[in-house]
Amino acid sequence: MDISSVLQGGYQHPLSRKWQAKRSLTKEMLMYPIFITDDPDAQVDIPSLPGQSRWGVNKIEGFLGPLVKKGLKSVILFGVPLTCEKDPRGTPADDPQGPVILAIKLIRKLFPDIYIATDVCLCEYTSHGHCGILHEDGTINSTPSAARIAEVALSYAKAGAHCVAPSDMMDGRIKAIKRALIDNGFGNKCTLMSYSAKFASSLYGPFRDAAGSAPSFGDRKCYQLPPNAKGLARRAIQRDVGEGADIIMVKPAMPYLDIIADAAQLAPDYPLAAYQVSGEYAMIVAGARAGVYDLKTMAFESIEGIIRAGCTLILTYFTPQFLDWLDE
Ligand code: PBG
Ligand code: ZN
Repeated sequence: MDISSVLQGGYQHPLSRKWQAKRSLTKEMLMYPIFITDDPDAQVDIPSLPGQSRWGVNKIEGFLGPLVKKGLKSVILFGVPLTCEKDPRGTPADDPQGPVILAIKLIRKLFPDIYIATDVCLCEYTSHGHCGILHEDGTINSTPSAARIAEVALSYAKAGAHCVAPSDMMDGRIKAIKRALIDNGFGNKCTLMSYSAKFASSLYGPFRDAAGSAPSFGDRKCYQLPPNAKGLARRAIQRDVGEGADIIMVKPAMPYLDIIADAAQLAPDYPLAAYQVSGEYAMIVAGARAGVYDLKTMAFESIEGIIRAGCTLILTYFTPQFLDWLDE
C-alpha cells in the first residue's frame, strides 16, 4: 500500500482518537434551558420533553443545587405563565412578580457563580401567542415590537441577568436592545446573545407544549427564517453583528450545521452558540428508546457535530446528563 493511503495508524488508540478534535466538549460550553412557571411550588413533568419539567421558584434550589455541584455553569430561563392575564403587548413578560424576574434574583442569591441568561420573547405572554406586537390585520408591527422587547430585556438585565437572548426574530430588535442597555447603564453589565439565524422549524413542538406558546392563529413564517434560506441566514447573522450582538446563535442545530459553519466564518471574532432544540432532544431520546442507537453515544455524536461546525456554546436539554457523562 502507498504510504500516503494509510490513515488508520493515526487513530488506532482511544487517546489518539480524542486528539482528532480541534475542540472537545467541556462543561463550560453547556447552557441548560429551564422552564420557570408561576405556581411557586410546581414541579410538573413535560410529557413531550422526557426528563424535563416546569419548575416553580420554590423548587429551584432543590432542582439546581445538585447540578451546580456536578459543574453546571449556566442556565437560560424561559417563563411559563399559567395564571396571568395575557394581553396583546405581553404585559406579564416583565411583571416584577413574574416567574422569570423572581427566578433571576433567586438564582443570583442561591448560586452566585451561575451565569444566568434569559430568553426574551413575548409569545409566552401575548394573548395571540405571537412573538411581537400585531397590526389590526394580524401582521407584525415591527417598531413597537422591537421597543417592547427592548423594554423587557432591560427589565431582566436590571433584575440581574448576565445575558439577554431575544428569540423573537423581529427586525431591528438587536439594535433596540443594545441601545436600551447602554442608555440605562447596562452596556458593560449584560451580554446580548442574538438568536440570529432562527428557522421556522418543525422541531419546536415540545417547547411550545412546555411553554404554552403556540400561536393562536397563523404561524411564525413571517418572522422565522425559511429552512431553505442560507442567504437570509447569512444576512441575519451579519445584520445582528452590525447591530451590536455579543454572541450569535443558530437554531435548531442538527439540520443547520452548514449555517453554523457559515456563522463561524462570517463572525469569527464572536462566541457562536447553537440551540439543540426541544424536538432534536425528543427525537434523540425517542430513537434511543426505539433501539435505533445508544442514547449517550448519539447525544455525544450530535454535540460533536455542532462543535465541529464551529460552536463554542451549546444550549441543550441534555446538559444534566452531560455533566455526568463528562465525569465518567
Ligand atoms: C419562543 C421560543 C421558541 C423556542 C425558544 N424560544 C419556540 C418558537 O419560536 O416557537 C424553541 C426552543 C425549543 O424548541 O427548545 N420565541
Ligand atoms: Zn416567541
